[in-house]
Amino acid sequence: MREFRSVGKGGVELAGSGRKGLFVVLEGIDGSGKTTVGKEVVRHLNRNDIKAKFTSEPSNLPIGKLLRRVLNGDIEVDTYTHALLFAADREEHLRREVLPMLEEGNVVVCDRYVYASMAYQGAKGVDMECIRGMNSALPHFRVPELIILLDVDPEASLRRTIYRKGADIFETPAYLSRVRENYLQLRERHGFVVIDAGARFREVVEQVLDRILTRLEDIEV
Ligand code: TMP
Repeated sequence: MREFRSVGKGGVELAGSGRKGLFVVLEGIDGSGKTTVGKEVVRHLNRNDIKAKFTSEPSNLPIGKLLRRVLNGDIEVDTYTHALLFAADREEHLRREVLPMLEEGNVVVCDRYVYASMAYQGAKGVDMECIRGMNSALPHFRVPELIILLDVDPEASLRRTIYRKGADIFETPAYLSRVRENYLQLRERHGFVVIDAGARFREVVEQVLDRILTRLEDIEV
């Protein structure tokens, strides 16, 4: 049975559900390579005439910009407020950017989503169920069709991030180890596909593409 069908040039729709597009989320600790991998995956899909867009959280919308200031230490808020701000940014991002892109039939590759809030704010002591609840209550919340965890050892990932941009307020090996444990704990319940992000870049990209293309297997684009 076909799971997806094509809608318009290069667009996709989940057959029988009226849900357009394919919502793919990439998760992982800082330095897992999500952003580079996600952008490359989208380039590859586009080169093969599949409509695809890359986006990320925190967003570039006003609450996302506020969050960047919290992350670099300019503004201090408590951890629960932090979780609320991420949820507020997510609602805006979904309504203004993610859902419209899905509606056009795109494969939307989103760098971080609610699972990042559960893993990161959870590692700071906020109850993960409470975070899940506040996010799933968002008016525009959508459960992704595919969630991929790029799993990497925190020591290795930290070496990558410090080299790249200098660490932000969250990045210590002990903290990132707790974040990673939270991600692994969420794996089963939320059906994460776990990919070893310690592998070569090409290999990681290919594995992510393989998962996406398997979901889209039978479409005609
Ligand atoms: P980035 O490095 O992927 O741009 O993300 C910035 C930081 O924001 C990263 O350290 C993880 C953190 N974060 C959370 O703590 N909770 C969230 O819900 C999201 C989306 C990001």
